[in-house]
Amino acid sequence: MTEGSATIPNNLDAFWMPFTANRQFKKAPRMFVAAKDMHYTAADGRQVLDGTAGLWCVNAGHCRPLITEAIQRQAAELDYAPAFQMGHPKAFELANRLVDLAPDGLDHVLYTNSGSESVETALKVALAYQKAIGQGSRTRLIGRERGYHGVNFGGISVGGIVANRKMFGTLLAGVDHLPHTHLLSKNAFSRGEPRHGVELADEFERIITLHDASTIAALIVEPVAGSTGVLIPPPGYLKRLREICDKYGILLIFDEVITGYGRLGTPFGADYFGVVPDIMITAKGLTNGVIPMGAVLTSSKIHDAFMTGPEHLIEFFHGYTYSGNPIASAAALATLETYKQEGLLTRGQELGGYWENALHSLKGAPHVIDIRNIGLVGAIELEPIAGESTKRAFAAFVKAFEKGVLIRTTGDIIALSPPLIVEKSHIDQIVDTIRTVLGEID
Ligand SMILES: Cc1ncc(COP(=O)(O)O)c(C=O)c1O
Repeated sequence: MTEGSATIPNNLDAFWMPFTANRQFKKAPRMFVAAKDMHYTAADGRQVLDGTAGLWCVNAGHCRPLITEAIQRQAAELDYAPAFQMGHPKAFELANRLVDLAPDGLDHVLYTNSGSESVETALKVALAYQKAIGQGSRTRLIGRERGYHGVNFGGISVGGIVANRKMFGTLLAGVDHLPHTHLLSKNAFSRGEPRHGVELADEFERIITLHDASTIAALIVEPVAGSTGVLIPPPGYLKRLREICDKYGILLIFDEVITGYGRLGTPFGADYFGVVPDIMITAKGLTNGVIPMGAVLTSSKIHDAFMTGPEHLIEFFHGYTYSGNPIASAAALATLETYKQEGLLTRGQELGGYWENALHSLKGAPHVIDIRNIGLVGAIELEPIAGESTKRAFAAFVKAFEKGVLIRTTGDIIALSPPLIVEKSHIDQIVDTIRTVLGEID
């Protein structure tokens, strides 16, 4: 295992860390200095098993040779090409590959640098599309309670995580939300898709009646809500949303930042649920987390609506300096190749049963009020300490790290999403460590 070359600065104050308890961290820092395959090396030399694929993104495992070499080669050959009015071959090659991999009907790709930017891009495409086809009154966007769509203003407006919204003013106007699908009292300890809650899709009809369909541009949902703690939709729920969108001329956007690139045992969540959106948002696993990049796929119907007017004019006033950056494109191509060579995008189908049984063996462990799983993702929900929500799960996170396993917690939920190269022995280690930790925390 390679040791990291980093030395740790003795002043940690300047870096205001994202989504982090900064003061706690800086008193007792948790640093990684190297990584390989399923493991990180912590600053003290300990091996830490990655139970979360970094932040749901390192789907092929760490420091994979094809990806590392592709980045090194590309950096030496063509480091940057202007993204506007100029091109380079790899961005086009990657777009073709993504279209081949995606469900039929998603034929065009816009590049971004993150999930959050992919969300903003998708929302802007949806609004501009409606205007382009003469439906300019369709300005409303519908999201879902507990949804996570990144941290930019559009994303937090359609998102439904209160802590991410409440400090930031009035957000985008004209947004409404479907109810979330987490019915703990009815669905606790479900394996795979939970039985109850398909009727919650009909709330969409109520919202449409309230605002009138002529004011609504798009609905955005995560096929499986990830960052809020792995909320899995009941069978038929996403199909129903698709039907309602079609009935009222509303675009359906899937945010597949987590469910994309094999997390559910299929290339995308759309494949798992057999529902094709009009716009599909991806990021994270696109480059194995190695270089920031996102990709938004759209139908030809949407793309073609913009391809009108004089040919010398820009059709869509949107894009980023780094859209389709050459090094990111090279990283993404090598990532897709790694997924293909190793069958990683469907590995969740082989291992899903083992994963499910292992996770559900924690039923009855202290504090556990629900366990849920789908593909190679899972969640263990803990009873919060009265008046001190998140404290119990955070204690579990810190203790698991000390015992050599990286887990992730959101609220009082432990969320697990190992790299797709995970072996049964790693699954056992993750679950055994959590069992021990749950027995040790208050
Ligand atoms: C569903 C979803 N959308 C968007 C994002 C935002 O991605 P990023 O952090 O790359 O901006 C995330 C990140 O976890 C996500 O899970």
